[in-house]
Amino acid sequence: MPTRNESAAALLDGIRSFIEPAQVRTDPDSCLNYGRDWTRLYTPDPLAVVLPSNIEQIQQLVRYANEHRLALVPSGGRTGLSGAAVAHHGEIVVSMERMNRILEFDPTGRSVTCQAGVVTEALQNFARDHGLYYPVDFASRGSSQIGGNIATNAGGIKVVRHGLTRDWVTGLKVVTGRGDLLDLNRGLIKNASGYDLRHLFVGSEGTLGIIVEATLKLTRPLREPSVMVLGVPDLDGVMSLYHVFRNKLELSAFEFFSELALRHVLKKGVQRPFDAETPYYVLIEFENPDESHTDQALALFEHCAEQGWLADGVISQSETQAKELWRLREDISESISEHQPYKNDIAVRISRVPALLAEIDELLAREYPDFEVLWYGHIGDGNLHVNILKPTGLDSATFAQKCGAVSEHLFAVLQRHGGSISAEHGVGLTKKPYLHYTRDETEIGYLRAIKQVFDPNGIMNPGKIFD
Ligand code: MLT
Ligand code: ZN
Repeated sequence: MPTRNESAAALLDGIRSFIEPAQVRTDPDSCLNYGRDWTRLYTPDPLAVVLPSNIEQIQQLVRYANEHRLALVPSGGRTGLSGAAVAHHGEIVVSMERMNRILEFDPTGRSVTCQAGVVTEALQNFARDHGLYYPVDFASRGSSQIGGNIATNAGGIKVVRHGLTRDWVTGLKVVTGRGDLLDLNRGLIKNASGYDLRHLFVGSEGTLGIIVEATLKLTRPLREPSVMVLGVPDLDGVMSLYHVFRNKLELSAFEFFSELALRHVLKKGVQRPFDAETPYYVLIEFENPDESHTDQALALFEHCAEQGWLADGVISQSETQAKELWRLREDISESISEHQPYKNDIAVRISRVPALLAEIDELLAREYPDFEVLWYGHIGDGNLHVNILKPTGLDSATFAQKCGAVSEHLFAVLQRHGGSISAEHGVGLTKKPYLHYTRDETEIGYLRAIKQVFDPNGIMNPGKIFD
């Protein structure tokens, strides 16, 4: 961690000599709002929030930070769930909010180049207005920014068909922790000219430098997507449905959630999809361009019902209904936020999902019977979200400490199944103590060495991913 040995006022005056003074903020509201993400576990305490408007200012800022050993926290929409964008030790937050322009559209190559502060939904809308589709999608689309998505290799609800953010990045401009501007891969589809540094920045969580521009691929829109929600009696049923539906339909999502999770969404006024209550639900989205696909989906439904793999179900008849059904899954995260959930975002190979889920379910019920545990996630990607809700009356510190103990058990099980402690939320601060369950010490040594190359003075988001 860089140390500060100059007066804060003098340091900030220095920054104001190359960034408009009004864009170097120290007021309490800005420090609170820009100093945290959606984890709410840490008390924000940045020295200042800086909002550059161009690459040159960012380069100057990084060079200045090196000279004065100031820590920088790159900041997007701050919708992260692992504390990677938290500034709680007097760092400078570098918000990309003002760098929010789409710079270039290439209809032939079906790609778009934009600044890092473009909001995900703005990019999705831009693509749609041009008859195309940016398929990386999640509930925080209205606030998350492209740079932040790239820095966490964001996943979301369409990965089963379209992959992760990484799969859509064909070019990146980054300012490294040394202050150099690198133009990585230049939007090329094919490029076999040595190490691909672009991929080091995807998922780097701001620890190597600042992503300033990205070139992203676009694709054709989904053809008339339909949504089914199915009530499932047990976890084996969930996996059986996955096999059956994936083999016969072009799935664009295969999500699951538990009845316990659903109840929190219903409390917010969303309607139950059908009368039957089942322990689990599956949401399937598939391309449905003509009646033959509907017939196929209904035939699969009948077959699965006969096998006892599902108890009830519903299929959307319109785009509005499809959106309503999506709310059952997408609104879970927000509807439980008031319970200060302790979040886990784990991944295993899909074939391991049933065994892992059963083992963790049994572990939590045995060791932590007082906790309300909610399951949901992107089961088609082997990605499960395990959320433990804070019991009312238990103070936050004790709850966090108890959940930390849960994590050690849970990650030991995960390690046996060859999984990852983070599928899509990132390591940040919350998962840093557990990184060794997924990466061994030798590998972590290589990660540290890479950071040293890009950020020799350790000014870029210090304390995130590893110390
Ligand atoms: C989700 O799948 O809903 C998001 O990853 C957010 C969350 O896990 O709460
Ligand atoms: Zn998720």
